[in-house]
Parts: sequence; structure tokens; C-alpha cells
Amino acid sequence: MTISSIPQIPNINLSQIRLEIRALQTKLVQWRRQFHQYPELGFKEQATAAFIAQTLEEMGIPHQTGIAKTGIVATITSAHPGPVLAIRADMDALPIQEENDIPYRSQNDGIMHACGHDGHTAIALGTADYLWRHREDLKGTVKIIFQPAEESPGGAKPMIEEKVLKNPDVDAIIGLHLWNNLPLGTVGVRSGPLMAAVECFHLDIFGKGGHGAMPDQTIDSVVVSAQIINALQTIVSRNLNPLDSAVVTVGELHAGTALNVIADQARMSGTVRYFNPDLKGYFHRRIDEIIAGICQTFGATYQLDYWWLYPPVINDQKMTDLVQSVALDVIETPTGIVPNCQTMGGEDMSFFLQEIPGCYFFLGSANQDQGLAFPHHHPRFNFDETALSIGVEMFVRCVEKFCHGTI
Ligand code: NI
Repeated sequence: MTISSIPQIPNINLSQIRLEIRALQTKLVQWRRQFHQYPELGFKEQATAAFIAQTLEEMGIPHQTGIAKTGIVATITSAHPGPVLAIRADMDALPIQEENDIPYRSQNDGIMHACGHDGHTAIALGTADYLWRHREDLKGTVKIIFQPAEESPGGAKPMIEEKVLKNPDVDAIIGLHLWNNLPLGTVGVRSGPLMAAVECFHLDIFGKGGHGAMPDQTIDSVVVSAQIINALQTIVSRNLNPLDSAVVTVGELHAGTALNVIADQARMSGTVRYFNPDLKGYFHRRIDEIIAGICQTFGATYQLDYWWLYPPVINDQKMTDLVQSVALDVIETPTGIVPNCQTMGGEDMSFFLQEIPGCYFFLGSANQDQGLAFPHHHPRFNFDETALSIGVEMFVRCVEKFCHGTI
């Protein structure tokens, strides 16, 4: 390409972008409430996907449906050559009965958008709407990925396997999570690990039951379980480098049927979280060693089912710099940028970030005064919808900066 054929970077009028995006707010709220009223679980997002596809259709935006069952990709190509940026939004809900008394409460019994993915989907649609109308001001291509099943079993990996990052090849990816741990008007972002790797396990302990007054004739699976639960906590406190962060949680324990009976079996389940990707495999091995040792000590046997679910979410330095600089433009106050925001929560955005550089960030969405500050996955979770247009503005300005190479 000769120098003269490089398209001129248009004079981006930031306040004009904001005005146009604010004008989308009514639509954003309508979309978000539509998704909120009809939440669907992972890989069952048929109505959600149909609504997205229909809305893209009405806007005239080219898109592909049925990727990893219910996933959709909208592709916005400018007439000018340039890089390819992907924006990812997850669209699944949770098996929770909503307890909010709101006009747009969930109409699907036992299912609720309690994590804000309804908002993510609305923000992605609003971003598509804006970028499509302004595609001649862009360079390159923006792919907007509507991903199923983030909560589990994970839609990112199958979408990658179905080549969502190919043709055209995606150079980088961004995504956001509405975040009630941060107040409205803030952005939490950092380079390196942002969210943890997720591993899970089920453990069955097999002892020998008997009379509660005659323990000498039994192998008490409850006592064995208690030893195991305590000992598992020493992996983080006594085996792991103290500068590595990790969590081992036993969240479920089931045993016994009566107060005077020694239980022959116990079952527990738990989760492991960590940031350092080199620790993959480490916890599985150590947990198995501890269980084996304790079971041998007491004469019990066991079955451990252990699986690795998601890698840690690790942000690229350059893409994080881009998001941070955009956040400063959007939030307009340096104290609104929370630099070391990290959580042991997991996210399958991590699979995209393993493939290409990118940045995932938290968008503050809590509003204490309006009672919109319940934690994620709570039956009364809800967020301040003002965050929707802030989210669109974050994405649009990231696209502007990225496509014009002003990282
Ligand atoms: Ni979520």
C-alpha cells in the first residue's frame, strides 16, 4: 500500500460519540429487559439468539448464527483495510429463581439473568448498531461475538473450535463484565491475571458403617472427611509459594442418615482457583495425594473425579493500556479507574485470550442508593442500567483507537 492510499484518520469528535450513544439508551434498556424477562441456560439460548439475529437483520448487519449451537457472530467490515478486533459478549442465564419485584422480572421459572449477561448482550447489540452506522469512519473489521454457556459448561472453546477467530483472522479481542463489586462510573482493569483458573472435583469416601456407639467396628467416613477437609486447606497455606494466590473450597458435604449411625459413605465437592497458569495439574496431584494418604491411614477407600474447567483470564499489556486510556476518556476521572481489580471468579473469556491478545475488564454497575448492589448470582441481583451506554461507549472508543492503530 502506498502512503497516499492510507485512508485519513477522521477527526474523532468524542463528545459527538457520547451524544449518539446516549441516544441509544432507551433501546439498550429495552433490549436488556427483553433478555432479562426471557432468560435461558447455557446452549439453550434459542429465544435470545433469535432476538439477536432478528435485531441484526433489521439493522442490516451481516451475521452468522448457530455457532457452537446458539452462538452468533456479527461482522462489520469497513471499506478501508485495517486490523480485525473482536468484541465478546456472553448471553446465558443461571438456574436461580428471581426474587426481584420488577416489571421485567424473569418469566422463565427457576432461570434468571443474575450475572448481568443480559446487559452484556444489550451492550454488544448497541455497539453493533453504532459501529454499523459509522462503518465508513472505521478501518478494518469488527467481529461481535455473542457467546453461549459462559456459566458452564463453556461456549468460548467450542466457538473457537468452530473457527470464530478465523476468516478474517482476529488480531485482538476485548470484553467486559458488568460488576456490582464496583460502583457505577468506574472501570476495573489490569494487565496480567484478572480472573482465576477454575477446577472442580467430586470425592466419594467409602468407609464401613455401623452403630454410633460402636466405632471400633466401623470405618467412619465422616471422621475421614473431616481430616481430608482440614488437610486440603494446607495446600494453600503450606505447600504453595505464598506469593501465588489460590483457593481450595469444599462447598458440599453429604453423609449420614441418623445421629446414632456411623455413615459408611460420604461425598464432597469443591472448587480450586488460582492465577498462575503453571499450576495447572498441581492441585489435582496434591489433592489426590492428601486424600490417598488419609484414606490409607483410616482404612477407607475413595473415588476422586477431578476436572479442569477454565484457564485464568490473562490480559495483554498493550490491549490493557488501550482499555485504560479509553476508560480515562469515558470515565473522565482517574480515580474511577480501579487498577488492581482481581477476582478468584472464573470466566471462559480466558480461552479467547489464550488464542489472541486481548483485554477483559469490569464495568462498575452498582448503585447502593437505588438498591442495585446485590452480588452476582444472588436472586435479587440487578444493576444500574446507566452502565449500558457506558459499556457501549467503552467498546466504541476501543474500536476507534484500535482500528486507527493508536494503541
Ligand atoms: Ni458472569
